[in-house]
Amino acid sequence: MDTAADILNSNLSSQVDGLSITDTLHLLTELFPGQVCFSTSFSLEDQVIFHHIATEKLPITVFTLDTGRMFSETYSVWTATLEKYHIPIQAYIPDHTRLETYVKKKGPNAFYESVENRKECCFIRKVEPLKRALAGQKIWITGIRAEHSGNRSQLHLLEWDEGNQLNKYNPLLHWTYEELRQYIGTHEVPYNILHDRGFVSIGCQPCTRAIRAGEEFRAGRWWWENTDKKECGLHSN
Ligand code: ADX
Ligand code: SF4
Repeated sequence: MDTAADILNSNLSSQVDGLSITDTLHLLTELFPGQVCFSTSFSLEDQVIFHHIATEKLPITVFTLDTGRMFSETYSVWTATLEKYHIPIQAYIPDHTRLETYVKKKGPNAFYESVENRKECCFIRKVEPLKRALAGQKIWITGIRAEHSGNRSQLHLLEWDEGNQLNKYNPLLHWTYEELRQYIGTHEVPYNILHDRGFVSIGCQPCTRAIRAGEEFRAGRWWWENTDKKECGLHSN
């Protein structure tokens, strides 16, 4: 039997079916006033989405999870984005008590020592702040693309997120990396210069490296872990 969430999701999916990104964003903000948010890590994907939101002046809350361990280049894109668009970006910072306890107990770079430590760091610096950011929201817009991983290639433009009890909208799901770069160039959108140095998927500085030709898109994330399914816990599906 379909759950209420399935029904909501399929109704919404049929309403946005065939709409452009801009029209979909307009519709979502009309259907869920004050309850549509967008998470940005300042990736190419997120910059493309941000440009759509900014040029259409959409009433969408934009937030970033500032882990405190991001590349200085990422903070530069953040600054350049504020300077170009003049739209506020809400930063969510890790809970200082949890973080202080973790760092005191395990040290600053414990994520290299075990998957358990790594997940704990991701939980404190990303997942718990995300929960706060999503509280009260109905739609969460993300830059997830099918090309990122086998897991993500199974996703839909609209996905019910059981853990967070809201609908996720992944507008760039079917875009290619080349399309992103082209869009960024055409519209003169600020982007992370690390993308010109072999970095494709960019997260925290200690946990991200550039990839070599032939490597998978997310091969540079937590590269020392031997698993196919490398996620930090933000995206459970
Ligand atoms: S992650 O789960 O591996 O970290 P990824 O880097 O692929 O995620 O990014 C996918 C989407 O998750 C981004 O487009 C963005 O919507 C969201 N996201 C990832 N990291 C952050 C962050 N630090 N702050 C806000 N949103 C983020
Ligand atoms: Fe911590 Fe690395 Fe996860 Fe960032 S990506 S939160 S530094 S384990």
